[in-house]
Amino acid sequence: MNDLHTLPKAELHLHIEGTLEPELAFELAAKNGVVLPHESVEELRRQYDFEDLSSFLALYYATMAVLRDASDFERLTRAYLERAAAQGLRHVDVFFDPQAHTVRGVALGTVIDGIRAALDAARAELGLTSTLLLCFLRDRPAAEAGQLFDSLGEQLPRIDGIGLDSAEVGHPPALFEEVYARARAAGLHVVAHAGEEAGPEYVREALDVLRVERVDHGIQCLQDPELVDRLVAEQVPLTVCPLSNVRLRVVDTLADHPVLDMLERGLLVTVNSDDPAYFGGYVGDVFQGLRDALGLTDEQAAALARNSVDASFAGTERRREIH
Ligand code: HPA
Ligand code: ZN
Repeated sequence: MNDLHTLPKAELHLHIEGTLEPELAFELAAKNGVVLPHESVEELRRQYDFEDLSSFLALYYATMAVLRDASDFERLTRAYLERAAAQGLRHVDVFFDPQAHTVRGVALGTVIDGIRAALDAARAELGLTSTLLLCFLRDRPAAEAGQLFDSLGEQLPRIDGIGLDSAEVGHPPALFEEVYARARAAGLHVVAHAGEEAGPEYVREALDVLRVERVDHGIQCLQDPELVDRLVAEQVPLTVCPLSNVRLRVVDTLADHPVLDMLERGLLVTVNSDDPAYFGGYVGDVFQGLRDALGLTDEQAAALARNSVDASFAGTERRREIH
């Protein structure tokens, strides 16, 4: 059997703030004089029993308050990249949530400086390439996303694309049509979370209105056979996150997860960790979980790994090099 941790692969759905392990959270809290409402690392970990996406997001936003200066973002990102490289990742498209930091007084430049420093170092030291994708929070006003985009200025060339995340239901993709059009015109990559908790109509809107290159999650497409046919025909990459879906109760157990059926059906599926510090594992652990729970074969593992590289924003040359 293949060693799943050495299979060359890419990760396409990873929120850098979701890699904040409790140990680092407490260390940064002490450094920055931030008081976390938990007694200990163990007590914080005990909170990781989520009801749904919203209950996770509340803890996710509260805990990232320990990230204050560029060195904090750099440490966070370095720690993730080291784990990622150790599990066979050769490229990663990294999401970050600027509004979650600017609303608490941390400047956008500070966030990007820290993350970028770690991404650049990983390229040189670990042979791990990356892109950086700025996510708009869909449960905040679309006008705020537009203002954020306008304010990018000298930061614009330091990001490679945009995404859309946070609480999904009631915040459909079409609300963000204008800022997506501007991002596309600026030559950025465009992706969006759709069909995680909300239905297939959100996936259609992401494709038709936002004109995304990939759909993040997308698993609710299975409710709509015509949409599945379209996703197969157009080979739209779906960045599926099996451990996340179980922890956020989108799917009951890993053994019930449809990801391998989706692969066999001809969908361009990739598997990803989403928020690995909170959901029980990094991308190598996701592959291992699928082997343990669903009997992932070597051929399926190789197909998922190949899809992840093909659907990444690594660029033609680098994709060829990884294969
Ligand atoms: N879904 C939506 N928004 C998010 C997630 C997620 O799984 N993780 C971080 N922000
Ligand atoms: Zn996500």
